[in-house]
Amino acid sequence: MARVTLERVEKVYPDGFKAVRSLNLEVHDGEFLVLVGPSGCGKSTTLRMIAGLESVSEGCLRIGEDVVNEIAPKDRDIAMVFQSYALYPHMTVRENMAFGLTMRNRPLSEVKERVQWAAETLGLLDLLERRPKALSGGQRQRVALGRAIVRDPKVFLLDEPLSNLDARLRLETRAELKRLHRKLGTTTIYVTHDQEEAMTLGDRVAVMNQGVLHQCARPLEVYERPADRFVAGFLGTPPMNFLRVEVTPTGEDLRVTREGFDLKLPRDLIHAARGDVQRPAILGVRPEALKIREADDRPGSIRGTVDLVEPLGGQMDVVITTSSLDQLVARVSARELSAGTEVALDVDPSGGHLFAAEGGSGKNLASE
Ligand SMILES: Nc1ncnc2c1ncn2[C@@H]1O[C@H](COP(=O)(O)OP(=O)(O)O)[C@@H](O)[C@H]1O
Ligand SMILES: [Mg+2]
Repeated sequence: MARVTLERVEKVYPDGFKAVRSLNLEVHDGEFLVLVGPSGCGKSTTLRMIAGLESVSEGCLRIGEDVVNEIAPKDRDIAMVFQSYALYPHMTVRENMAFGLTMRNRPLSEVKERVQWAAETLGLLDLLERRPKALSGGQRQRVALGRAIVRDPKVFLLDEPLSNLDARLRLETRAELKRLHRKLGTTTIYVTHDQEEAMTLGDRVAVMNQGVLHQCARPLEVYERPADRFVAGFLGTPPMNFLRVEVTPTGEDLRVTREGFDLKLPRDLIHAARGDVQRPAILGVRPEALKIREADDRPGSIRGTVDLVEPLGGQMDVVITTSSLDQLVARVSARELSAGTEVALDVDPSGGHLFAAEGGSGKNLASE
């Protein structure tokens, strides 16, 4: 096992495109780190640099204590699992799993033992003599994992390994992966564009956009204390609501205003040193931090009209158009509510965030 360290790592493709920008990241020994971000943000490029399948243009890449920038993939002691599984079609499951060890000239008895152990661990014992075309998607995926774990590498690199599975199997395999990691304790870097997968799997989650790492922290922390507006909007479904507001500190509180509403929120939403002037900002509110009640003239809430109700079983999403014509989504427990109803929205103060205004950095003003 080993930690993986990236220091100011950059990737410039031959056509001049900069896919990864000054990336600093330390993956701890034994950690399950998830690299998440929208398609095209540079996740696979980063993983492929760690694997040695892409060269590092700038910066320093370490596995354990060793700088590996110039080390060939086969000498890095990593195992990679791809979305496409990349199994050899003419080989059986057993041969597919044994291949990496045989290639490295491991003794036959060791190969047999390792394959047996991996097949047991992943529930593949009954499938060892089959060829990939006689396997379901989920089974192929397990064989690809098996091929990675037989080698007992220092680091696992997984690139969207669940995206070819249907929704149910994805959930099952996700849980299995988590158990497997608990059992093996191998440093793992897992790439996905799926924020839910990232939150459920990661010890820590590294959020990237356009080649830049925005935040790396525990799942709950990125959710509750997003570093900036991008992270806030990327994690969570439905996404966080954003509204342009004016912020005026008043004594103990912050007065957050916009045409049609006037809210009191806790002062610590803005970093103390910067908190004394009136300023435009972006208010971010998670759908579950909005409470719907009957419309009245009580100040301190947001007035609006129900636009759309989407039942989800025990809960429902309600799209509301405010009197300032913003659209907000509230996630509340299921109840009777019809489109056209006038309502008032209360903001749970702990679910409010303030970000630097449009055109600015978008940084969370609590941490700026
Ligand atoms: N060989 C390449 N040459 C030029 N640009 C590339 C190459 N491979 C990937 N890219 C670009 O780099 C960016 C990041 O790609 P990638 O790392 O695959 O993103 P992700 O895995 O996050 O979806 C994308 O804009 C992609 O088009
Ligand atoms: Mg990718």
